[in-house]
Amino acid sequence: MIIKIQNGDISPSMKVVEAWQSGYNGSGIIVSVVDQGIETDHSDLDANLRWDCHLDLIDNDSNPYPPFNFRHGTQVAGFIAAERDNNNCIVGVAYGSKLIGIRLLGSSYTTDITESLAIAHAYNVTDISSNSWGPPDFYGYFAPGPLTAEAFEFGGRGGKGIIYIWAAGNGGTSDNCNADGYANSIYTVTISSINNKGQPAWYSEVCPPALAVTYSGDTNQRYMVSSVNIYKLKG
Ligand SMILES: *[C@@H]1O[C@H](CO)[C@@H](O)[C@H](O)[C@H]1NC(C)=O
Ligand SMILES: *[C@@H]1O[C@H](CO)[C@@H](O)[C@H](O)[C@H]1NC(C)=O
Repeated sequence: MIIKIQNGDISPSMKVVEAWQSGYNGSGIIVSVVDQGIETDHSDLDANLRWDCHLDLIDNDSNPYPPFNFRHGTQVAGFIAAERDNNNCIVGVAYGSKLIGIRLLGSSYTTDITESLAIAHAYNVTDISSNSWGPPDFYGYFAPGPLTAEAFEFGGRGGKGIIYIWAAGNGGTSDNCNADGYANSIYTVTISSINNKGQPAWYSEVCPPALAVTYSGDTNQRYMVSSVNIYKLKG
């Protein structure tokens, strides 16, 4: 088996290829993507979807398909679990894991009810919940509502709890994720963004709750490539 090493010029390396070579591919792990939905017919994702567990909290059904031009959830899903060896787009970091699409974000505001349903959804099967969303940037202090705060405690992983991965926020130096009650929750692992030069991305928020950083796109640096770029290139 040949693994083509991509982005070998980026340092420090996330050592994804080394993890694969050590036998880790996400097999047996279920990741929910709480976002704008997932294009469930995407040929780079469709084999890695948990069809029985999707949820759409905007249309209130089990089909999380996003409307035209709401592609963030599909991009996030691709980074996590895009299929390998299909000559299509990218390979997800955990290409052996399975995805649950939870469509929470759209053109209207979320509520404590919809957020709590997203956080608690499929808690008995979900291992990791990916959340690249949060309170409005530049807003000041903002905490989850009472239902959402309680939903974080529901369980997952046989009572050990779902691992909620949270974005630090996009407010840059004009905001501070200390004031973000989702990012600073004891139930979330908050991640901030750096560019390919190892510097904070222009929108990165910095605060003690940010436990780690990962690579992300940045203006004038490089953007990330994910499962929707073929569409994007087409215009
Ligand atoms: C979906 O359910 C939420 C409450 O959970 C409600 O506020 C919303 O209006 C419903 N949307 C539709 C399209 O029925
Ligand atoms: C992931 O690893 C497991 C365990 O080694 C293996 O059985 C499975 O085929 C791998 N998944 C893929 C998609 O290669």
